[in-house]
Amino acid sequence: MKRIMVTGGAGYIGSVVTGALLQDGYEVRVFDNLSFGGESLLGFWHDPKFSFTKGDITSASDVARVLRDFAPEAVIHLAGIVGDPACAKQPDLARRVNWEGARDLFEAAKKNGCQRFVFSSTCSNYGKMKDPSSFVDETSALAPVSLYAETKVMFEKYVLQDSVRDKNFCPVILRFSTVYGVSPRMRFDLTVNEFTRECAMGRELEIFGEQFWRPYCHVYDFARAIRLVLTADAAAVAYDVFNVGDTNENYQKQMLVDEIRKFIPALKVRYVSRNQDPRDYRVSFAKIQKVLGFKVSKKVPDGIREMKTMIEEGVFGDCDAARYKNV
Ligand SMILES: NC(=O)c1ccc[n+]([C@@H]2O[C@H](COP(=O)([O-])OP(=O)(O)OC[C@H]3O[C@@H](n4cnc5c(N)ncnc54)[C@H](O)[C@@H]3O)[C@@H](O)[C@H]2O)c1
Repeated sequence: MKRIMVTGGAGYIGSVVTGALLQDGYEVRVFDNLSFGGESLLGFWHDPKFSFTKGDITSASDVARVLRDFAPEAVIHLAGIVGDPACAKQPDLARRVNWEGARDLFEAAKKNGCQRFVFSSTCSNYGKMKDPSSFVDETSALAPVSLYAETKVMFEKYVLQDSVRDKNFCPVILRFSTVYGVSPRMRFDLTVNEFTRECAMGRELEIFGEQFWRPYCHVYDFARAIRLVLTADAAAVAYDVFNVGDTNENYQKQMLVDEIRKFIPALKVRYVSRNQDPRDYRVSFAKIQKVLGFKVSKKVPDGIREMKTMIEEGVFGDCDAARYKNV
């Protein structure tokens, strides 16, 4: 495979994935409606293997145009209304983009002769664990507790039903951990990034649900996982689901604070009670390690270190700027 289309390629994960694929020698077309601008792509502009189409995945004509012009052999589908708050704020748009748009893109890509379709789902689909002492894996029941995760589960179910199967097509579902790390399209509304920003800026960290578990993974490792999926034998990955992360990288929020304290001993924290985010899940990543040999290259302390340096050196300017958040 040579030609890869990355939807949402201007986003937090997408811009890192785009850079990694270009480095591997792929021709990469980013398809994005630039909801957060296109500055994240400027560093790729000089690369003859990079191209860009401004378009919306909910527009059949935009999608038909890019599939016709670029004829991708694989689609990495990252575009979406991302996160619980963003979906709660624009529920109709979230359903249209994350569910209907994804389904229509999937069908159009299949019809257009695309061979592989990688879908970015989320470990949020697991919701709240029943047994706090155990781990959920790809066979566990999905129990979404937000519209965001509901839209992801709807698309997953659609892809995995027998009636849409095509032996010449290879869709793969990746359930990402919560991401952290520096990206050309920075997001400070992600837990590790946000906590580190608050502490590095000397502000008091306000925490609720400090006992809740969640898996975390560096954005660069997502790009590595996607590269593995692109080159894997189709028989090993088609119509299958993989959690992306590392079983040792499940943390309670309190554990994240303890990690940040190793870098910023003077941090201040205040615990508040809020029934806002009932997600609580510890995830096993044994399958992706076994089937694809995937191992993370960075751990949460690496992300804290890079984020702290970037903030202290003033690389972001105003870290509170609206463009660094999804709502
Ligand atoms: N960041 C995380 O922790 C995380 C965790 C699990 C899964 N994911 C998934 O990974 C994907 C990327 O997430 P992200 O953190 O990079 O988000 P992001 O918001 O930074 O990027 C999303 C991109 O999609 C584009 N987009 C939005 N609507 C579009 C539309 N209708 N048509 C075309 N482009 C559109 C935006 O302009 C943006 O560039 C999403 O599908 C998300 O659900 C992210």
